[in-house]
Amino acid sequence: MFEPEMKILYTRETIATEVRRLAAEISTEFSGEEVLMICVLKGSFLFFADLVREITIPVVVDFVRVASYGSETQSSGIVEIRKDVELSLKNQNVIIVEDIIDSGYTIETLYHRLQQRSPKVLKVCTLIDKSRRREVDFTPDYVGVSMEDGFIVGYGLDLDERYRNLCEIYLVENA
Ligand code: PRP
Repeated sequence: MFEPEMKILYTRETIATEVRRLAAEISTEFSGEEVLMICVLKGSFLFFADLVREITIPVVVDFVRVASYGSETQSSGIVEIRKDVELSLKNQNVIIVEDIIDSGYTIETLYHRLQQRSPKVLKVCTLIDKSRRREVDFTPDYVGVSMEDGFIVGYGLDLDERYRNLCEIYLVENA
């Protein structure tokens, strides 16, 4: 089995600080209203759980599972919804929550599919933005941290489904 060499890139404290900042931004922007937060499974599950608990305005939650085809490190651009959102988005303040945006194919496809359901507002929040790897033109509304290249795991992110449970985010140096 492949043994990754891992070095901490973002500590628990750094992640928690960014999560609080993002939650405060969202709470302020939608003050007096309700937000419908959508977790993009699986990678976002920890970020989502922490983010919604820091939001101080009314929140409802839903989940979507999106599969993108390609290699472990490179998306092909073919994106399919495997498990759809269950709540109606009509006239709702909807925020899609991603762990990472890389090529942008996944979020671009999901954004346009959900936009067709007539939300009042549709925003995107990502913990990590690899904007320099973008292959489509997509800019998220809320960004935790930006990074250049490099394969990362932990805090929801996997390597062959492993390491999602780590509390920190690690750079895999021999990926
Ligand atoms: C990851 C991540 C995003 C997507 C980003 O999901 O959670 O959804 O890839 O890549 P892109 O910008 O190049 O499309 P992945 O397909 O690895 O599934 P997972 O969340 O279940 O790990």
